[in-house]
Amino acid sequence: MADNTDSASLSETYLQISPNILASFPKFRPPVDLYFYDPDVARTGPYLRAGERLSREGQDEVARFAEEGRLYLLRDDYRVYAEHLSRELGLLLVEEGFLPLEVAEIFFIAFRNRMDEFLNRPTEDTYEDLRTDVSILAEYIWIDPSRVDFLTHTLEREYDLSVHSVNTMFIGLALHLRQTGGQVEKAGLVSLSLGLLLHDLGMVMVPKFIRDKEQYLVRRDRESLERHIEAGLNMLRRLKVRDQVILDCVEQHHERLDGSGYPARRFDKDISAEGRLCAIADSFSAIIGDRPHRSARDMSEAVRMLAEDGRRYDSDLTALLAGIMAERIKE
Ligand SMILES: [Fe+2]
Ligand SMILES: [Fe+2]
Repeated sequence: MADNTDSASLSETYLQISPNILASFPKFRPPVDLYFYDPDVARTGPYLRAGERLSREGQDEVARFAEEGRLYLLRDDYRVYAEHLSRELGLLLVEEGFLPLEVAEIFFIAFRNRMDEFLNRPTEDTYEDLRTDVSILAEYIWIDPSRVDFLTHTLEREYDLSVHSVNTMFIGLALHLRQTGGQVEKAGLVSLSLGLLLHDLGMVMVPKFIRDKEQYLVRRDRESLERHIEAGLNMLRRLKVRDQVILDCVEQHHERLDGSGYPARRFDKDISAEGRLCAIADSFSAIIGDRPHRSARDMSEAVRMLAEDGRRYDSDLTALLAGIMAERIKE
C-alpha cells in the first residue's frame, strides 16, 4: 500500500476527488476504489473498493472527506475515472485539479462514445447530445485557447469512423486556433467542431466492405464511396441542420484546389475556408490512421505528404499544420 505524507508524492499516486465529482458518482457504488487521508497517522489508506456498496453513514463520511479535501482515487484507476467523467463533461469546466492532457483524453473518450451512439442511431436526440458535448468543448477552449494544443496530443490510430472523426475535429480546431491567433467566438467554435466531427457521417450509408477497400476500388465501388457526401447532406437535412459551416465541411472536404476533388470538382476560390480546413484535417487524420490495407504513417510524414501537395491543399494551412506538429514532436 502506498504510504505518502508529502503532498507532491501524494499527487503522483493519487488524484483528489472533489465534492462536485463525488456528487456525480452513483451514490451507493462509486466506480473507483476510494482512499482517504488520515491526518492522525499522516497516511493515506483504502476506504472502499469499486462497486462495493456504501452505507448511508458511509456516504456522509465520504462526502465529509471530499469537503475536507482528503478523498482520493489511485492515478492507476484513471482510465475508469476518465470513462465516468466523459459522461459528465460539464465538470471539466469547473474542476481545476486536472492536467490539460487528462482533460484532452476525457474529451476524446466522450466524443468517441457520442459519435458511436450518433452513427448507430442518427436521430435528433443523439445529435443534441453531441451538440451539448461540443458546446462544453467550445467553452473549454474559449476560456483559454492555448488548451487546444493538448488536444493534438490525444490522437488515436485505430481504424474506426468515430476515432477518425474525433481526430479530424481535434486537428481542425488546432488549425483554426492558429489561423485566427486565438481570436474565436464560442458559437463559431461549436459550428466548426460539429462540421469537423460530422464530415463523414454519410459513410454509415456506404457498405463496410467498400469503405475498407478504399484504395483498390473499381469504378462502381468508387462511385458508391463518393456518395457519402450526398448521403451525409441528406442526413443533415433530415436532422434539420442548416448551419452553413457544418454543411460546407460535409459537402467540401473532398474538394481539392486544382479541381481534382469531388463531388462538384470545385476550384480554388469556390472552396470555402471551412472546406479547405476540413480537407486538410480529414486527410491528415486519414493518413495517420491504421487502415485494413496499410499501417499508419507517422505524423511528420503525413505533414510532409500534404505540404508537398500544394496543388491540392491550401499551403497556408499545411504550413500551420507543420508548425503544430513540430511543436508537438519537440515536447
Ligand atoms: Fe469523406
Ligand atoms: Fe474523413
